[in-house]
Amino acid sequence: MRRLFPVTDETAPRPGATPPGGVAGGPPATDTADREWSLQELAAAYAYPEPGPGGRESWLRANMVSTLDGAAQHDGRSQPISDAADMRIFGTLRGLADVVLVGAQTVRQEGYRPARARAAFAGLREAAGQAAAPAIAVVSASLDLDFSWPLFTSPLVPTLVLTGAAAAPDRVAAAERAGARVLIAGDGMGVDPARAVRALADLGMTRLLTEGGPRLLGQLIAAGVLDELCLTVSPMLTAGDAQRIAGGPSVAVPERFGLVSLLEEEGFLFSRYRRT
Ligand SMILES: NC(=O)c1ccc[n+]([C@@H]2O[C@H](COP(=O)([O-])OP(=O)(O)OC[C@H]3O[C@@H](n4cnc5c(N)ncnc54)[C@H](OP(=O)(O)O)[C@@H]3O)[C@@H](O)[C@H]2O)c1
Repeated sequence: MRRLFPVTDETAPRPGATPPGGVAGGPPATDTADREWSLQELAAAYAYPEPGPGGRESWLRANMVSTLDGAAQHDGRSQPISDAADMRIFGTLRGLADVVLVGAQTVRQEGYRPARARAAFAGLREAAGQAAAPAIAVVSASLDLDFSWPLFTSPLVPTLVLTGAAAAPDRVAAAERAGARVLIAGDGMGVDPARAVRALADLGMTRLLTEGGPRLLGQLIAAGVLDELCLTVSPMLTAGDAQRIAGGPSVAVPERFGLVSLLEEEGFLFSRYRRT
């Protein structure tokens, strides 16, 4: 892993220097040199913004992977277009989040399990006042989910299910019986993205991470609630008719995001863009 952007005097290699993470007497392990980054270094590189004077406000970041030709999945899953470094960043972003917001189709197709407590993030999470692992928050209108899955029955932190006020009462009851906490975040069948963010903030969850999928992400973008995109560009071409990372109706005017950082490992690019 090496940093391609930003390159500053501090991150440029200094002959003979042994920066943090370097090996005494060994070659300097700078950001720009290709080396294995510890999870702590990745966590520092992806830290959520510090709270402002008015306290911590919600910050919603998305983490998505795309091939060079824009495919967000292959054979219905993202794993074939990902790699080990991408999974380390995926795990780091989870390690920093209060909650992971995810669309029901991704849960069904990728067989979501509860988030794990990871020793590497335990100290950071405790210091930040976070639970041992992020909660998973599933967005669904149909509630056509298998509530016997460990995601619902045995998570470390109760799984949240976000749905609309018109959701089928028997499915709401099934979710609650399984141990999930159901949050109503819309007046009809569906969830209003801005209301979902507010409902999570009301539970003290302000460090938000969404893992898509594309249909959910498109709505978060269109509603103007996405603050940051962590996009992995996978050095693969798939052709075909896969979804791209965000779908649904397009926004009236393209929204500009600014590049915050760019890391690289084995041809995979790990970009981080923020709303400007
Ligand atoms: N490349 C990547 O980084 C990445 C990331 C995630 C997923 N994926 C891939 O993307 C595919 C799945 O994504 P997808 O776009 O089809 O689906 P998705 O966004 O994961 O889920 C769509 C479902 O979420 C629920 N939903 C979405 N918006 C809602 C709203 N406003 N209110 C209530 N419910 C809402 C609905 O569930 P109900 O049907 O239950 O009502 C809807 O059918 C999979 O192939 C997965 O592998 C790729």
